[in-house]
Amino acid sequence: MSAADAVTDALGQLHSRFAGVREGLPAAYIPQLARADPDAFGLALVSMDGHRYSTGDADVPFTLQSISKPFVYALALSVLGLDEVGRWVNAEPSGEAFNAISLEPATGRPDNAMVNAGAIVTTALIPGTPDEAAFERILRFLGRFAGRELDVDEEVYASEAATGDRNRALAYLIRSAGLLPFDPVAAVETYFRQCAVRATAVDLATMAATLAHGGVNPVTGETVVTAAVAAQVLAVMATCGMYNGSGDWLLRVGLPAKSGVSGGLIAAGPARFGLAAYSPPLDATGTSVRGYGALVALSQRFGLHLM
Ligand code: DON
Repeated sequence: MSAADAVTDALGQLHSRFAGVREGLPAAYIPQLARADPDAFGLALVSMDGHRYSTGDADVPFTLQSISKPFVYALALSVLGLDEVGRWVNAEPSGEAFNAISLEPATGRPDNAMVNAGAIVTTALIPGTPDEAAFERILRFLGRFAGRELDVDEEVYASEAATGDRNRALAYLIRSAGLLPFDPVAAVETYFRQCAVRATAVDLATMAATLAHGGVNPVTGETVVTAAVAAQVLAVMATCGMYNGSGDWLLRVGLPAKSGVSGGLIAAGPARFGLAAYSPPLDATGTSVRGYGALVALSQRFGLHLM
């Protein structure tokens, strides 16, 4: 069997093995997400030579939610550099849930850019330009990772905007510590829009593969970020990307990763591949149940653990 056939075969087997899992529920605190099809399940892998492998519902668009966070962090690092970004948001695992009141006692900084508090600050750090508002800049940047223009699911955006008071409260709390360089309401609106950007599992695997490939999109050949920024983002994904499940994830899967409450999950094998799963039912940490199961199994079967 060729290497390509082996990958296709492995994804197909994982899909069959986990499609029947019935645990977890789609997120309900953003009402529009609760309407997702609980049976939807897709897997995708993009190799460093730009080959795209997929199975199941890998072409179904869904919203990025927290999977947007590492890519917006990449933009902030590209524009401002690690030291300046680090003045506003730290890079320590919080061990807490994604929506925790994550503020370091000493400085008031959010613990890291993967929890909501840190992601809102990161989004607020992105300056608009004379030609482009901050959100348009973020959207175009996300599209360069995916290798195509992405758009916003306006219904999901409106649903989160109507119910997202906890995130607004986090933004006000951070501003009270003097650490939000922007109007809290506007920062959170931009953050909600970034969370509502729509992509497929194949797009997400391409985005993860771009980080794994030193910042160069392996499908389009475009340099999206420097190798240094790609490495910085992968480091924070490894330690913080799965929130209060980050330790368990690094132990069992051993790859930098990021989950999202819409049921997306990405993982990156540096210099090897980008992976993505989509399946809306979530566990208690906000991670796709089937996605988690499939990636644990894949990592074990192919020895993908980095350690
Ligand atoms: O801010 C929120 O709550 C959502 N827009 C994103 C949270 C999320 O995806 C957490 N990840 N598992």
